[in-house]
Amino acid sequence: MSNTPLLIAALTQQPRLRPPIWLMRQAGRYLPEYRAVREQAGDFLELCYSPELAAEVTLQPILRYGFDAAILFSDILVVADALGCSVTFEQGAGPQLEPLRDMAAVERLRRNGVQEHLAPVYETIRRVRRRLPQQTVLIGFAGAPWTLAAYMIEGSASSEFYTARAFARRQADAFAKLIDILTEATLEHLGAQIEAGAQVVQLFDSWAGILPASEFERWCQAPAARIVSRLKARYPAVPIIAFPRGAGIRYQSFLAAVPVDGLSLDTTVPLGWARQALADVCLQGNLDPAALLAGGTIACREARRIVEVLGARPFVFNLGHGVLPQTDPGAVAALVDYVKSVRLPQGGDT
Ligand code: CP3
Repeated sequence: MSNTPLLIAALTQQPRLRPPIWLMRQAGRYLPEYRAVREQAGDFLELCYSPELAAEVTLQPILRYGFDAAILFSDILVVADALGCSVTFEQGAGPQLEPLRDMAAVERLRRNGVQEHLAPVYETIRRVRRRLPQQTVLIGFAGAPWTLAAYMIEGSASSEFYTARAFARRQADAFAKLIDILTEATLEHLGAQIEAGAQVVQLFDSWAGILPASEFERWCQAPAARIVSRLKARYPAVPIIAFPRGAGIRYQSFLAAVPVDGLSLDTTVPLGWARQALADVCLQGNLDPAALLAGGTIACREARRIVEVLGARPFVFNLGHGVLPQTDPGAVAALVDYVKSVRLPQGGDT
């Protein structure tokens, strides 16, 4: 077996000893060392825009657990902030954005300042890469246009984003223009992360699942297809993972339309279905974050079932969504130990 890092080997379907593991929100409030730096930084966005502190926080879960990949510490909403739709994070209240509610507001977005505004993020990537072990892969990421648009229109977190969904219909031209602007900004942001040293990128469409079928094709799938194919043309060697959370059976049409290397499954996707319906792609997921919250023994039991069904194909162990703040750091340690103990037959694929 070669020296290819495990995450790259899984995403490019090369032989490997065991499934790689990393977790969404592996850097975050469940870690006391994160809470200490977060307090020092004061504001959450300040932390995202401080290369020194963001690099430290990115590396914390690597030092503690030895994950196979580090994910850049940042947030999907920095792109909205860079476009001039300013974002604040109030303690306990989630993100607050200046709501964008008409064509004039869409036209006022600062389309030319994205890379300049996000320069500290690229500096974080360079610093992290210098300090990471050779075998640990650095993942960059961005929010997908629909999820970003949903927050920008709604102005805050929501469980259904009805204001954004009504806006998409009532002001169809303004919405289409916003999606175009976000598609370009996302491409720029991911391209700059790759140039700075991100070796894999993940596109988070956290609210894909609330779109009705016809809208899913237009606002989730089509922009993702544009982003992925244009990145592939420029950076053919960089694997891309997509996370159209909540897509259900539409994971299948998504895969047919979007040429990704990895597909991240949310907790609702039945594994047997995924195994046969989502062939020829590396699957990632999908342990319930609540299983990890329940403790190490329960998490490992459920993890074993996932590994039994998906482990031998190109597969990356992860959660179906992010680590919850109340999670016991010891449970994460037990999970990492378990996944690192798995051995694939001849290190090969099925
Ligand atoms: O470790 C990592 O995964 C990397 C860092 C990361 C964060 N956010 C840090 C963060 C990543 C990849 C994200 C992505 C993100 N941000 C998504 C997509 C994934 C998902 O969760 O669905 C979304 C929708 C956001 C927007 C966002 N950021 C919300 C809704 C919130 C508030 C909810 C919460 O958990 O507090 C955030 C804040 C946020 N982003 C925190 C962290 C560690 C917590 C803020 C804090 O420390 O006070």
